[in-house]
Amino acid sequence: MRVALVQNSPRFGRKEENIQRLLSLIDKEKADVYVLPELSYTGYQFVSKKEVEELSDSLDSKPIHRFKEKAQELGSVIIFGFPERAEEGFFNSSLAALPDGSTILYRKTHLFYKEKLYFLPGNTGFSVFKYKDMRIGLAICFDWFFPESFRTLALLGADLIAHCSNLVMPYCQQANFAQALMNRVYIATANRTGTEFREEESLTFTGESVLVSPRGEYLLRGPEEGEAVLVCDIDPMLSRDKKINPYNDVFMERRPSFYTRLGTP
Ligand code: ACM
Repeated sequence: MRVALVQNSPRFGRKEENIQRLLSLIDKEKADVYVLPELSYTGYQFVSKKEVEELSDSLDSKPIHRFKEKAQELGSVIIFGFPERAEEGFFNSSLAALPDGSTILYRKTHLFYKEKLYFLPGNTGFSVFKYKDMRIGLAICFDWFFPESFRTLALLGADLIAHCSNLVMPYCQQANFAQALMNRVYIATANRTGTEFREEESLTFTGESVLVSPRGEYLLRGPEEGEAVLVCDIDPMLSRDKKINPYNDVFMERRPSFYTRLGTP
């Protein structure tokens, strides 16, 4: 199973240009699963509700169809972040477009910083879907900071966590070592690069998209700056082996009844 990390540097608000660029990056490498960044074709730093309204897309919109068509054309899964316009309001979402034309939607559970001004907290919860012989779980950027996110996906049976990101802090790429190791799961963090300067505030995104194995090996690491498409073959069976020696199975031995007793000295 070949996984591709697509790292881009979108220009804020230039949807058509950013989509074209992402599709041409995808064309550079053949893979079974492509993971793209968070808010992959709009840019990150919204500064008004009006802007979110103008740049967001419903699931039946043309930009979403472009990625669905590409997944069908290539016979691959494409997982990308986008601002979603829904009946309830706006969400920071990711969508997995499958080659049969079906889609799996995830809405970001843990919103970061000023996202809270413009998006609703996700209401889909974490889920895992099957593609060929691999189970894929979806997460978005700041979800990583809550260990429950990747733990939940791993407990739900994910072999690979597709983590669409726009990281501004330098820690996630390092923390993935521990999260992949402790959950015995592949983590694919597709991050963007570049700086956005909008209304007196500038954010610089940290690049270095990474793919980490259930053994904590860094199989891929992108550059700090600039675009990249990186590919690697993975074995989903490795994620299903939660044993670290003949005596210790790190999932079978969990003792959840001891993990929630707060407040007792
Ligand atoms: C983030 O959640 N985009 C840091």
